[in-house]
Amino acid sequence: MNSVFAALPTTVFETMSRLAREHDAVNLGQGFPDDPGPLDVREKAAEAVVNGWNQYPPMMGAPELRRAVAAHYRDWQGLDLDPENEVMVTSGATEAIAGALFALIEPGDEVVLFQPLYDAYLPLVQRAGGVARLVRLVPPGWRITEEALAQAFSPRTRLVLFNNPHNPTGRVFDSDELELLARFCQRSGAVLVSDEVWEHVVFDGLVHRSVLSLPGMRERAVKIGSAGKIFGMTGWKVGFVCAAPELMRVLSKAHQFLTFTTPPSLQQAVAYGLGKDPGWFDAMRAGLQRSRDRLAAGLADLGFSVLPSAGTYFLNVDLAPLDARLRDEAFCRLLVERHGVAAIPVSAFYAEQPVVSVIRFCFAKTDATLDRALERLAGFFAAREAGLATLHAYK
Ligand SMILES: Cc1ncc(COP(=O)(O)O)c(C=O)c1O
Repeated sequence: MNSVFAALPTTVFETMSRLAREHDAVNLGQGFPDDPGPLDVREKAAEAVVNGWNQYPPMMGAPELRRAVAAHYRDWQGLDLDPENEVMVTSGATEAIAGALFALIEPGDEVVLFQPLYDAYLPLVQRAGGVARLVRLVPPGWRITEEALAQAFSPRTRLVLFNNPHNPTGRVFDSDELELLARFCQRSGAVLVSDEVWEHVVFDGLVHRSVLSLPGMRERAVKIGSAGKIFGMTGWKVGFVCAAPELMRVLSKAHQFLTFTTPPSLQQAVAYGLGKDPGWFDAMRAGLQRSRDRLAAGLADLGFSVLPSAGTYFLNVDLAPLDARLRDEAFCRLLVERHGVAAIPVSAFYAEQPVVSVIRFCFAKTDATLDRALERLAGFFAAREAGLATLHAYK
């Protein structure tokens, strides 16, 4: 058996989902929306299954979709991508990430990663033989600093696996941080692989900036996107990889023997969806921003210390101001078991030196779901007032 996968424990995501089911909890742990996704896009997929081509599509992706991806990123992010040589379709961002690691590193190469990190990253880096060098981001700012990068980069750094907008912190890194990272990549000769699946889910008028637009990075960056996140249909697993032709040639070799293709009907539907009126994307963001604000206001009213969320489906609360002794994992167990609300402890996103005072809630839910969660969370504060909360028993 392979030691990387054999050693992986049951994830906290699985544990929390099981507890949520057992306790009939409102599940704000898992990151998927209540909304079923745009009807016209789903109808396109259905139509394509019934009347379209259901055999292997081209390995690089349906030409319509590759053209739609290039046009979409031109219109939304000012990128100039050649759909023939610089765009590839994958089975979700996860396949794109695995493929990029398999294609771009050799055993022993160092890979810089940012904690808290998306759960798939580290096992995939290790399975590809990479040696992880971790940059630790901390609340409340979760900022990337020159000092932290200087510690993580070395002459052996070959790749940086980056995520922006960032899950679980909800941060959208600013231009100073992005340009700093680009300078480090250039200095060490590393390729920057950027997981930008949350690119459309940004709030307060923010504009997503892709790594491909950073000075000096057009030839040494790989941009990864996901239709599942753009359209709020996380089960679709249609991803996009964009990179200069020299990188793409190697990336496509890994993809060829991982999944080779992605269901053609979904590719057709996503090609249609990416061309939707800009108003649809603006309304999608506005709706999620409203949900973010509803949950943030409700949590703050209860007495939680809410950290800012500039993007993604997630917002975090810092438990330290409530009680410096609280630990995120124990607190999440208390919430789900005693009060019927599931959240995710952010320490689960650290491989070492975890931050243990922050918990993550998903706000991509109906108002009724968010309100029900808030009512139940009020039960925690009432019990605490009455001295009934057995918080410390959960440590
Ligand atoms: C940062 C990040 N990357 C990748 C993914 C997975 O994307 P996909 O479903 O397209 O594989 C997620 C899903 O939550 C994510 O948050």
